[in-house]
Amino acid sequence: MQISKASDAVGAIVEDVDLKTISDDQFAEIRSAFFDSGALFIKNQNLAPEDHIAFAERWSDIDINRFFTPVEGYPQIAQVLKEPDQEVNIGGVWHTDHSYDQVPAMSSILYALEIPPTGGDTLFAGMAAAYDGLSDEMKARIDGLKARHGNAHVFGQQSGYSEQTGGRVGNQQSAGQEAIHPVVLAHPETGAKGLYVNPGFTLNIVDMAEEESTTLLKQLYEHIMQPQFHFRFQWREGDIAMWDNRSTWHYALNDYQGHRRYMHRITVQGVALH
Ligand code: SIN
Repeated sequence: MQISKASDAVGAIVEDVDLKTISDDQFAEIRSAFFDSGALFIKNQNLAPEDHIAFAERWSDIDINRFFTPVEGYPQIAQVLKEPDQEVNIGGVWHTDHSYDQVPAMSSILYALEIPPTGGDTLFAGMAAAYDGLSDEMKARIDGLKARHGNAHVFGQQSGYSEQTGGRVGNQQSAGQEAIHPVVLAHPETGAKGLYVNPGFTLNIVDMAEEESTTLLKQLYEHIMQPQFHFRFQWREGDIAMWDNRSTWHYALNDYQGHRRYMHRITVQGVALH
């Protein structure tokens, strides 16, 4: 097994390993690379749904997503699908998964079954690198702040996302979860400080006037959107990308109209954030 850095800011590439047969020592190495880098790109796997589930369960219990259509017979696995005649993709905006939950999911493990001939890459951003790149003044300004996260504007009945995705995202009546988390998170495994706000689900900074909160979030987002904090993953069928939702953002590019892209995603449980 070989593990190498994907970029200075986020991610590591894992090659020459079959996740179906990894030893406990190999798993420990993978785990440590995951928390150090925020995301793993594990190349060239051949996993049945049972193998995907077994790998996910080595990390933690599975956190079943409320809104994505599951794979038939496997409620633990969400479909991330775009058909050739569909225009809107899933995850086509910078976000991190489940930040609206009181105990946000630790990781999402995405396995590529069908990839378009070109395009369909996923961008990742590293939140520890982004935090380190802030000015001392901004670090002092956001120290101790909390932010409110929610999902009704994305998954709720009024959002239109279910219609736009042709029903690939549903269960709108179950939306409405909200949670308050620190803006600067000491990572629960490594202690490294990272930014924990995202354009997909963060609603506002708590105890701050609306205009000031909007301006501050915009400043932080513009900072994180600088390319030096990113890695662009170009998929091959059989690849896995797994990311730590507490220390990364991701963005699924929607540049493959007329082609099918089909992935299986399992989300695993995290811990309360302080
Ligand atoms: C997601 O946001 O979970 C989907 C990412 C992707 O399809 O690349």
